[in-house]
Amino acid sequence: MTTTLITGANKSLGKETARILVEAGHTVWIGSRDEARGRAAADDLGARFVQLDVTDDASVAAAFATIAESGTGLDVLVNNAGIAKRVPGNPMEEALDGPSVLEVFDTNAVGIVRVTQAALPLLQESANPVIVNVSSALGSFWATHEPSRPASHFVSIAYGSSKAAVSMLTVQYAMAYPDIKVNAVEPGITATELGGGSVKDHPGRPAAESAAVVARLAMIGADGPTGTFQEDLGELGW
Ligand SMILES: NC(=O)c1ccc[n+]([C@@H]2O[C@H](COP(=O)([O-])OP(=O)(O)OC[C@H]3O[C@@H](n4cnc5c(N)ncnc54)[C@H](OP(=O)(O)O)[C@@H]3O)[C@@H](O)[C@H]2O)c1
Repeated sequence: MTTTLITGANKSLGKETARILVEAGHTVWIGSRDEARGRAAADDLGARFVQLDVTDDASVAAAFATIAESGTGLDVLVNNAGIAKRVPGNPMEEALDGPSVLEVFDTNAVGIVRVTQAALPLLQESANPVIVNVSSALGSFWATHEPSRPASHFVSIAYGSSKAAVSMLTVQYAMAYPDIKVNAVEPGITATELGGGSVKDHPGRPAAESAAVVARLAMIGADGPTGTFQEDLGELGW
């Protein structure tokens, strides 16, 4: 039996990834900072709920204590929780004041370190430990320099650079823990509430479609890749 924890799994990409993995037979922990939303998603999917705010050390410690005590173990960690911040009242403009940018980095980059460090003891007991970091092409130096890619036409100063940090975290954790497969994934432009917009006005594809690429990386076998950045069609340039 494979056990998977997904952060920010109460909705959107995280929830749809959970749905695929539950259907594939994983025991899935829905990490959610909000108890009511997390429990509702877990009940809907036949998953387990654990309160987990990736910006809160005490919440992270308590979440892993809960998982350890449950006896499920942990084989797969999907670091999915992420935010983008817009100027209030102006959904087209990224918030670039210090506190907003700190919050973006704290959630998207530092959150991965917080959760991964806490997960390592359990992952190291797994026969096939896997970490998937949900990143973005907006954090790819290659995609932001490639004219054919949407990322080269979309300015994203705080969010994009926080996702560039996710790239290096992926490379560094893959180097530090050769027995764990650590990969980053670009899920594709997806209609979600990221940045505070509404799903119905979003030009992206459905979350269920993008979740398939996240789930593919979460389900890699012992001979799977590590230290790579992946998207629909295979590897993405860093
Ligand atoms: N949508 C896209 O086009 C796209 C493209 C590339 C990459 N991504 C990445 O995909 C991931 C999922 O985003 P999404 O598009 O599904 O956005 P979303 O609809 O806004 O969902 C984000 C999830 O992260 C959770 N979250 C935010 N801050 C958190 C915290 N401090 N602790 C725990 N959970 C937290 C949210 O919980 P609440 O419900 O409590 O807010 C929510 O469950 C993110 O890493 C994002 O950067 C998205």
